[in-house]
Amino acid sequence: MNELEARQRKHILFTWTAQNAAAPVRIKGGQGIWFEDHDGRRWMDFESQVFNCNAGHGQRRIGEAIAEQALTLACAHPNAVFEAKAALGERLAAVTPPGLDRFFLCLSGAEANENALKMARALTGRSKVIARRRSYHGASMGASSLTGDPRRWPSEPDMWGVQRIEDPFCYRCPFGQTYPGCGVRCAEHLEHVVQMEGPDRIAAVFLEGVAGANGGFVPPPEYWPRMREICDRYGILLVADEVFTGFGRTGKWFAHQHWNVVPDIITMGKGITSGYAPLGAVAVRHDLAAKFDERVLQCGLTHHAHPISCAAAVATIDLYHDTKMVENAAHQGEVLAAGFAALKAKHPVIGDARNLGLFGVLELVTDRETREPLVPYNGAIKPGTQAARLKAALTARGLHILLRWNYLFVAPPLCITDEEMKLGLSLIDEALTEVFA
Ligand SMILES: Cc1ncc(COP(=O)(O)O)c(C=O)c1O
Repeated sequence: MNELEARQRKHILFTWTAQNAAAPVRIKGGQGIWFEDHDGRRWMDFESQVFNCNAGHGQRRIGEAIAEQALTLACAHPNAVFEAKAALGERLAAVTPPGLDRFFLCLSGAEANENALKMARALTGRSKVIARRRSYHGASMGASSLTGDPRRWPSEPDMWGVQRIEDPFCYRCPFGQTYPGCGVRCAEHLEHVVQMEGPDRIAAVFLEGVAGANGGFVPPPEYWPRMREICDRYGILLVADEVFTGFGRTGKWFAHQHWNVVPDIITMGKGITSGYAPLGAVAVRHDLAAKFDERVLQCGLTHHAHPISCAAAVATIDLYHDTKMVENAAHQGEVLAAGFAALKAKHPVIGDARNLGLFGVLELVTDRETREPLVPYNGAIKPGTQAARLKAALTARGLHILLRWNYLFVAPPLCITDEEMKLGLSLIDEALTEVFA
């Protein structure tokens, strides 16, 4: 531990970890998909920090926009009118599906979901909500209640009224089925839960575009359209949580756009500013938002539409457009899929390899036949195990990459080049060979 880390540890807490077990990211600065630590060592960022740095490191254009905003207008009332806020509304409306063109701005993905939840209840007059079992929607109480992931457990008992549906997790189908013979039971399951819980009591269904930290389950093509149909039948609002998958991560601006479905509400965060400033947003269907033209919108926060965050988001979205990063994510998704196929052919420890654009997951198993996970669900990576050795082998090769349970995530910034992607995949190949060959 160097002096800087010791100073920081003395006063500042780390997230989601026992403080003594924290493995800090010693980032000093970076460029593109690379960052440097305090010892001058270069790292390849295959996790985009925490799946937010979609534009990559060291983007001067975003930094300059932030600096300019800070020097002209840094502090404003939440209901103030200023250029960066108006411009952000226009930028967002240009990338969201037609009809979703009014936005509530906050500071994080969790807050976006909290506010979507309040709006859905206010708009429908109903109080129950449905979310998936393997999901993550944020750490605040409402968002955590929506969350299925074990990160919810410590905050139980949580918000009343959340019902669960099973996931479109084809590799481990919760219904023991195989696609396409399954009839997409995971989607039909929604209707069953709706009927059991009372259709006129359910305000909204919250779905991540593609399940994020729970394992990147890319749903079958019928899934999202069927979810839309069921919601329409019962007057339930469909909320797409695109905090993880938005802003190009999957090769489209938002993941649900792969399936030509228009949600009623979209929640956003992370890539909206590429992590350069804190920002979350809730996109609301025009006619729904119009209901708040006369009624009070009971949502607010001091730093709603913070000028610096708005300026950062405008510059980030412009950068995505001008450098065609979303298109590059789609292209790199193909490079990644080919690389994953080659890794899977070579390494029996890979049970399943799946990706959508630049969001990929290698699911590691002890045995391809039984599909036993290399690390059990919610299991820690214990010292001395193959999983721990794999993490060490990846770290030794300078890869900043997330190994969570038995999932190895590949999600580099969207500015990655073919050569960089091939290099990253070759480092994963080397690490897998070192531990499992
Ligand atoms: C799908 C999804 N929703 C919501 C959140 C919460 O976002 P934040 O950490 O900005 O509150 C996350 C964060 O990882 C996420 O992946």
